Amino acid sequence: QFEVELAKTGTTVSVGSDESILESVRTVVAGVIPASCEEGFCGTCEVRILAGKADHRDQILTQAEQDANESMFICVSRAKSPRIVLDL
Ligand code: FES
Repeated sequence: QFEVELAKTGTTVSVGSDESILESVRTVVAGVIPASCEEGFCGTCEVRILAGKADHRDQILTQAEQDANESMFICVSRAKSPRIVLDL
């Protein structure tokens, strides 16, 4: 379990081990979060990381891009840090 702070929305959600960041974020953000495959390969749900470290589980980013820690795909990827701040 970890926390996701949504910088634009100004709120924080906690993500349990049985749910995705996308699912948690949908409960607090008004409007539609872009997503399509929800399996980590289409790239639609990409979100910029403002702080914290992502645990990348998508099929899209190269190792170098993962290490850069600039954006993540929230349908499958999770956080390595207890808290991650996203541009949402
Ligand atoms: Fe396709 Fe997340 S919805 S990568």
